[in-house]
Amino acid sequence: MMKSGIYTQLAPVLFGNDTVVRAGETVKDLGCKKVMLVTDKGVLEAGAAGKVRHVLEQSGIEVVLWAEAETDCPEESVKKAAAIGRCEGIDGVVGVGGGSVLDTAKAVSAVVPNDDQVLEDIILYLTGQKDYANTPVPVIEIPTTAGTGSESTFVAVVTSEKLDCKIGLPVPPAYGIVDSSLMKTVPPYITAFTGMDALSHANEALTEQKNTPHSDLLAYEAIRLVGENLPAAVKDGNDMEARDNLAFASSIAGIAFNESGVHIGHSAAHALGHLYHIPHGVCCANMTPAVIRFAAKKYPQKMKRLGRLMGADITSDDSETIGKEAADAVRTFARAVGVQSFKELGLTKEQVLAAKSMFYGDALCMAFGGEVTEQDALDILADAYDE
Ligand SMILES: [Fe+2]
Repeated sequence: MMKSGIYTQLAPVLFGNDTVVRAGETVKDLGCKKVMLVTDKGVLEAGAAGKVRHVLEQSGIEVVLWAEAETDCPEESVKKAAAIGRCEGIDGVVGVGGGSVLDTAKAVSAVVPNDDQVLEDIILYLTGQKDYANTPVPVIEIPTTAGTGSESTFVAVVTSEKLDCKIGLPVPPAYGIVDSSLMKTVPPYITAFTGMDALSHANEALTEQKNTPHSDLLAYEAIRLVGENLPAAVKDGNDMEARDNLAFASSIAGIAFNESGVHIGHSAAHALGHLYHIPHGVCCANMTPAVIRFAAKKYPQKMKRLGRLMGADITSDDSETIGKEAADAVRTFARAVGVQSFKELGLTKEQVLAAKSMFYGDALCMAFGGEVTEQDALDILADAYDE
């Protein structure tokens, strides 16, 4: 019997090269007349935000540009943007950028029609103990990196000052536009670690408690596409076939992990990113081999399939061998595309192990489809550091 589960796609996603030219009609169809375009300086300079702004204005939509989004979506920046948005009377938000920008856009869409208290009570919203007094305004997510999958997921990951950690505010997007032409200018290193983020979403979705045959299907395909296309996109950013395949991989990995979930790797990555200000994708890339090795004890066949999709010729049925060979394949792949190890980034083993107290026992960590002991959490961090 197949495992039962809910098959979910939160919002329609318009996918394809140059589909961003349809952003105006999409936003109009959602009933928006004046939107805040949330982005950051890098995306603005690269031209993607300007392109979206032009398309929106051509459709008669008023645009309030806010290009101050910050890495890791700090609560303060959301408050700043929301205050302007409220003052301007916006009725929608369009996020154009990478993960932090898209998270900011989502959070702003929830705070604008409510107030800053939303961010104070973030944990109550996340655990379903509180509902928004006013429905968030529609948020349209337009990624410029292939990694986050934010257009397909229901949370905005915000850095909470009060809680001193990264935490998810539930805000489903109204629409996603995934256009690889906007990703052409992403530099090789960012292409590499955002691609590894997508891979980590797919990997963790395979072994999270809520995984379904549907989420597995999407996760395996995302893994295959990342394995086959990330090296090419890192080597040549103008390889549009590789860019397009990665954009698709990122988006379907987003659906997979929104339906299933992520667990230990992301829990640790949030802690490490918060503690040492390392990009999210870099943390995920370094956690993934250790998570694979751990997960292979309970899910050897899934990790065997993952390892094979990543180029490892795994013939053994021994779970330890599978775990090692699949993890080695992913680690070698990460290094080949240029993602540095924790050691190369200058972290000590003690610093990495210190992250344990920040994530072990939290809901995200315990969402793995099996038991995770405190010693397991420590061993996984040690494995991620030692390689
Ligand atoms: Fe991620």
